[in-house]
Amino acid sequence: MAQAEHPSPVTARAKGPLSGRVRVPGDKSISHRAMIFGLLAIGETRISGLLEGEDVLRTADAARALGAIVHHDGPGAWRVQGVGVGGLREPSGLLDFGNAGTGSRLMMGVCGAHPITTTFDGDASLRKRPMRRILDPLALMGATIVAQEEGGRVPLTIRGPREAVPITYRTPVASAQIKSAVLLAGLVAPGETTVIESEATRDHTETMLAHFGAEVAVAPDGRHGRRVVLKGQPELQAAPIVVPADPSSAAFPLVAALIVPGSDILIESVMVNPLRSGLLTTLREMGADISVENEANQGGESVATLRVRAGALKGVEVPPERAPSMIDEYPVLAVAAAFASGTTRMRGLQELRVKESDRLAAVAAGLEAAGVTCRIEGDDLVVEGGDGEVAGGGTAATHLDHRIAMSFLVMGLAARKPMQVDDGAMIATSFPSFISLMNGLGAEIG
Ligand code: S3P
Repeated sequence: MAQAEHPSPVTARAKGPLSGRVRVPGDKSISHRAMIFGLLAIGETRISGLLEGEDVLRTADAARALGAIVHHDGPGAWRVQGVGVGGLREPSGLLDFGNAGTGSRLMMGVCGAHPITTTFDGDASLRKRPMRRILDPLALMGATIVAQEEGGRVPLTIRGPREAVPITYRTPVASAQIKSAVLLAGLVAPGETTVIESEATRDHTETMLAHFGAEVAVAPDGRHGRRVVLKGQPELQAAPIVVPADPSSAAFPLVAALIVPGSDILIESVMVNPLRSGLLTTLREMGADISVENEANQGGESVATLRVRAGALKGVEVPPERAPSMIDEYPVLAVAAAFASGTTRMRGLQELRVKESDRLAAVAAGLEAAGVTCRIEGDDLVVEGGDGEVAGGGTAATHLDHRIAMSFLVMGLAARKPMQVDDGAMIATSFPSFISLMNGLGAEIG
């Protein structure tokens, strides 16, 4: 199992109600894309609210290695001077993406369509994750996979074609990363690149393509799917980006406030894009007291303040088609389910097995360590709720996974005995201020 070299355990314990107003850091998906679009545009892209987590900083380093000039002006404020579509410079060394699946996979799409040779690598967690899902469509577009570890894992080397071939591609699994990699590669190809997905996934790449001046058309396909058509070889023009607060990070204080009795908090300006809002839908079905206030538009995305008050939750069944809109939120939903009354069944979680860790196994093991009854049935996770009571007192193994670490720390804030996680270091990949932000609300994590 993947372990950090010098793990730093962290403990969370019950202290009292959470209260106050917070703002979580910028969205990780949009932050990666901001760097990538900045690289591919002509002119200077100004970014505000960028997530300065380790994952995004790796993408910034990669953008530099590929020819962009990247300036950091102050907290969240960055400028990227791009090279234009087709203008990437071959990097002199390998691109190390650390823990970042999104950064590495999207950049494979970008580099794999340019006539350069690029080597990708990452940490022990990234080295276990499947990359063939990206390499397969890139090969159809003319890329050569020069070297790869067994099963298409990093480290791997891709040589892009002299001229990329546009393709029509149906994604084999609902994945915004696959869709985005193909679309980003399609920028370099002449003609139309089409991606069809049978379940709609987050649409940030499509939105940002249009924002930077590409011609992109999105239409429904089947019951839940979409068809995205991109006209290749546009001249992308630098455009300002305001990164909204990350709903996947907001999920942690949100669930904490629901399960710590007496809590009442406000989480400001959270992105409420419907393709990212499955957790809100599910928690409301569980009876959660969450109100959405002050809805506004921020840089093309809807944002709102969430007011969250503690209260009783009841178990629900979460349908598989909801998975893409809350794919990163299942670990913390499982924590909420442990405090609910009755059974929660989360259906169709196969993709959780290939995240920063095997999240299905890691969540089940962590719940068991906390004395919660749960089981994995096929691709479903079933959690028996304790009706407001969870024993706690265990240690959750995080397997280099930030969201596993934060989820079980949230659990510790409401369990009878403290919860420990074996390593808190990975939290810095997506939410470096997590511990101080939570403690500012009255939590005891350290
Ligand atoms: C992401 C897509 C999702 C998600 C990841 C971010 C993105 O991955 O889990 O954290 O920014 O496109 P998949 O595309 O593998 O589902």
